[in-house]
Parts: sequence; C-alpha cells; structure tokens
Amino acid sequence: MKIKGKLYRTIWMDGNTIHTIEQNKLPEEFEIISIDSLEGVANSISTMIIRGAPAIGAMGAFGLAQAIQKMDSPTAEDIQKVYDFLYETRPTAYDLQHGLDFVMTKTLTETDPSSMKQLAMESAQAYVDASAEACRKIGEYGNSLIKNGDSLLTHCNAGALATVDYGTALAPMRIAHENGKNIFVYVDETRPRLQGAKLTAFELHEEGIPHAVIADNAAGYFMARGDVDLVITGTDRVAANGDVANKIGTYEKAVVAHENGIPVYIAAPISTIDFTCPTGNYIPIEERDQNEVLDINGLRVASKGSQAFNPAFDVTPAKYITGIITEQGIFKPGELDKINR
Ligand code: MRU
Repeated sequence: MKIKGKLYRTIWMDGNTIHTIEQNKLPEEFEIISIDSLEGVANSISTMIIRGAPAIGAMGAFGLAQAIQKMDSPTAEDIQKVYDFLYETRPTAYDLQHGLDFVMTKTLTETDPSSMKQLAMESAQAYVDASAEACRKIGEYGNSLIKNGDSLLTHCNAGALATVDYGTALAPMRIAHENGKNIFVYVDETRPRLQGAKLTAFELHEEGIPHAVIADNAAGYFMARGDVDLVITGTDRVAANGDVANKIGTYEKAVVAHENGIPVYIAAPISTIDFTCPTGNYIPIEERDQNEVLDINGLRVASKGSQAFNPAFDVTPAKYITGIITEQGIFKPGELDKINR
C-alpha cells in the first residue's frame, strides 16, 4: 500500500523482530512499532494495534515463528502452548488459526532444533507472502465486477491495513482505480471503533480514490436512492454453507442491499473460509469491552450509568450474498466445495 507516496506492507519481519503499523493511532499518527516478545504479539492482536482477519493471521504466523526462535530445543508441547496462547487473542477471524496451523505443521515435520527454527521462519514468511499474493488476485477478480462510473459501498476496513497488502474488499477498488475506471466509494464509518472513518478513508485518501464517509445509519438512504451499484465487504470467517461473519452492521447492510436489488460481494482469501464450520450459527462472535460503545475516542458520550452491549461481528446469511471473491475466482456462496484447498 502507498502511504505518503511510499510502499508499505502492514506487517513484516526483520531478523527476529516483527514490525507493524500501529493502527490505533491512525489517521492522526503514522507509527511503526517493533515487537520482540510473545506478550507483545498477543497484545498487538487483542488491543487491535493490528486487526483485520488476514493481518491477524500474518501476525499469528510471525509470532509463532518468533517464539520458536527463542526456544532452546523446540518440542511439539512447547509449540502447542504458544499456539494456544496466541489462538485465544481474538476468536472470530479464522485466519489466525490458519496462520498458526501452517507454521506449526511445517515446523513439526523436522525434529532437529536448528532445522525446526529455520523451517518456522521460512514457513511464516511463505505464509505471509502467499497471503499478500492472494489479496492481489482477489483485486484482479473483483475488478471484473466494477464498471466505469460505479459507486461502491464498503463496511469496516478490509483494506491493505486489514491484510498483509492490497486488502480484500479494497483490492478490487484499488485495481479498478489504477486501471483508470472512475469509481466512488461510500465508506460506512463503522461504529464503535470507526475502522471505516479512520482506516478505510485514510487508505482511499492515500491512493487518491474518490470517496465519502457516511454515518452507518445512512447506508440505506443512499441505497434506496439508487446511488450504490455494488456492495463489497471483507469477512472474518466464512462457513461452509456460505454464511459470513463480518464487522457488526454488515448483516443489515446486506439485507438493505438485497431489498434494493444491489449485488453484495464478500472478498476473502481461502484462509478465511472455515470448511469445518457448517453454518454461521457455529461462528464464535467476539464480545468486546462495553466502553468502546459508551465512549468515542475515549470520551464518554452515553449517559453515565448506562451499560452497553458490544458484539464485534454479525453473521450475514448466504442468501443475501451474490458472490465470494477469492484468489481462485468468484464463487456463489453455495459453491464453496468447488474451491481447491
Ligand atoms: O475488528 P476488526 O477491525 O478486526 O474487524 C475487521 C473486519 O471486520 C474486516 O472486514 C475483516 O477482518 C476482513 S479484513 C480483510
């Protein structure tokens, strides 16, 4: 992704240090932080310094590889302990498990400690590179859905910041823009944490893609007026039947789009598809601190003494989804069994 004209990935490793962009400080401050400990890795995921399903998967992969470098003589039990510790940090994004599984499985094909360490590092890097490439391909496939002059709507941040690079929902918009198509993006602000207003708007601005932030509850207004041609969002976990969990509010956007005859596409690398999960009813939904709802930017806006509920994700049933854009092409939600895994 381009930030102030310079190319960045959201996360990378240099020696045994992990570097990532501090997303809680955007858009006001652009800070890169360095992480050298397992606690630092876990904290970066749970406090959302890094967030977005594929980006969390990349942090899991690098975090496990980093921890393995510090073990005198890594054993399956030691690796499993680190895996379990990182797995607990956020429950909904399937990519975290995917990234951890990839590195652990590859590492355990060796028994010699130095080969295990080398394999852990190489597999984590391979996982992260493949994740970036998957998003680039999602961009290519998704671009085929976008016509010159289209207006799109997106929810939350499924941009480069939510992935290693390119984004999922934002990748097709990036490529359409690069190819000279005239597009406009309606960006849902995405309460409670405002990933749309803070992160998606930041990315689109940096890329020069025309856009406007709208209040979450304005999406229906613009859709009913015929101003939105296409909805594209990301997802944290796709169930085998094509139900998808994504940022809270995605469900209602999909229902309103469906009511207005607007296609809804979900952009996701295959690392986000949980083929072991039969339907959306089985997807674990993270419940976050109620202060995220009661406050805005640390300032209490709700009446003192009131409580809040804060589910971070909701499930959109497959019937509201036109297609799922993956690195292998665009599939109907009922066709996921055609994907090569
Ligand atoms: O709570 P977040 O910011 O991690 O939620 C992110 C989303 O809901 C994204 O849409 C999803 O992870 C897809 S990211 C390409």
